[in-house]
Amino acid sequence: MQRAAALVRRGCGPRTPSSWGRSQSSAAAEASAVLKVRPERSRRERILTLESMNPQVKAVEYAVRGPIVLKAGEIELELQRGIKKPFTEVIRANIGDAQAMGQQPITFLRQVMALCTYPNLLDSPSFPEDAKKRARRILQACGGNSLGQVQSRKCIEDVIHFAWEEKLFLLADEVYQDNVYSPDCRFHSFKKVLYEMGPEYSSNVELASFHSTSKGYMGECGYRGGYMEVINLHPEIKGQLVKLLSVRLCPPVSGQAAMDIVVNPPVAGEESFEQFSREKESVLGNLAKKAKLTEDLFNQVPGIHCNPLQGAMYAFPRIFIPAKAVEAAQAHQMAPDMFYCMKLLEETGICVVPGSGFGQREGTYHFRMTILPPVEKLKTVLQKVKDFHINFLEKYA
Ligand SMILES: Cc1ncc(COP(=O)(O)O)c(C=O)c1O
Repeated sequence: MQRAAALVRRGCGPRTPSSWGRSQSSAAAEASAVLKVRPERSRRERILTLESMNPQVKAVEYAVRGPIVLKAGEIELELQRGIKKPFTEVIRANIGDAQAMGQQPITFLRQVMALCTYPNLLDSPSFPEDAKKRARRILQACGGNSLGQVQSRKCIEDVIHFAWEEKLFLLADEVYQDNVYSPDCRFHSFKKVLYEMGPEYSSNVELASFHSTSKGYMGECGYRGGYMEVINLHPEIKGQLVKLLSVRLCPPVSGQAAMDIVVNPPVAGEESFEQFSREKESVLGNLAKKAKLTEDLFNQVPGIHCNPLQGAMYAFPRIFIPAKAVEAAQAHQMAPDMFYCMKLLEETGICVVPGSGFGQREGTYHFRMTILPPVEKLKTVLQKVKDFHINFLEKYA
């Protein structure tokens, strides 16, 4: 409601080009062109503005990276341009980043981190035994953190049109862009479709797209590296976003380095290209095989229906839950699929997520299961689910 009120108050009329930060001369140069362009092509007001945003964000203040630091950056640029000042460099004494100020890293720390990152180095004579021992212990102790459908182009167009019509800010989680297995499906980025839908959409719809090192062919959940690309963001909101990112500090260097490789992988002709491509294909090919295996095995079980796993890393099979089991679930004050998943866990040790946690059509039941276990283990898991399901149907018949 508040959003709608704010939009009405500010109106939705077209902005002049100069109000979007272009120079007056370029605005003048474009004036004649603007006259010829249909008015509805011009930009409309942003949906997300300082007035419509969450006021808690506006209230955040972080002096350590506030206006002083912005000014410091400006002064550095001025010094680079040769503007004379009573000093020759800006010394960034605002944050306690010792190594940025020249302090040397502690060798043992870097050695252990290098070994953890690339365990093949455990065979290298360049590392001391105590660092290797420590890395082995850390590697043993930590594992990575850890609905199967691919949106069609038409579906994405509909979502974009809906956002445009209803004045919504679009958030596109595109972390599974490499995980497409079905030959009938392709990954279409929201940004690409947005631009192909024409200027009415591409210059108006506000979009944030997310990507992460945790998924795709990388599966590097432990690095917490990712990015968000924003399009058509109101400049003031961009300022707020930068402020929030500064407050939270950035991901560790390792996470940033991993993300850098994702967006800029080795290219043909470079030394690592072949191995990189081989490993990537192997990971994705393996997942594609497991996707098919899961679909096929689930569909052999009476009372389970599984759509083709077009992408990502999950199956989301629909399960039939008999009326008596629904009653038993109600007696336990549980959603029926929660009851089913709880029994599955208790009886088989297999942990899946009830469909009610994701939203599903009234009266239907699902669960979500990853296809990440190695093939032989996955086969065992699927067999156990099958046996459990058949028993469950008999028990509550
Ligand atoms: C659709 C989707 N987006 C994002 C994430 C998590 O990304 P990150 O590890 O970068 O927080 C997941 C993790 O399961 C996911 O399934």
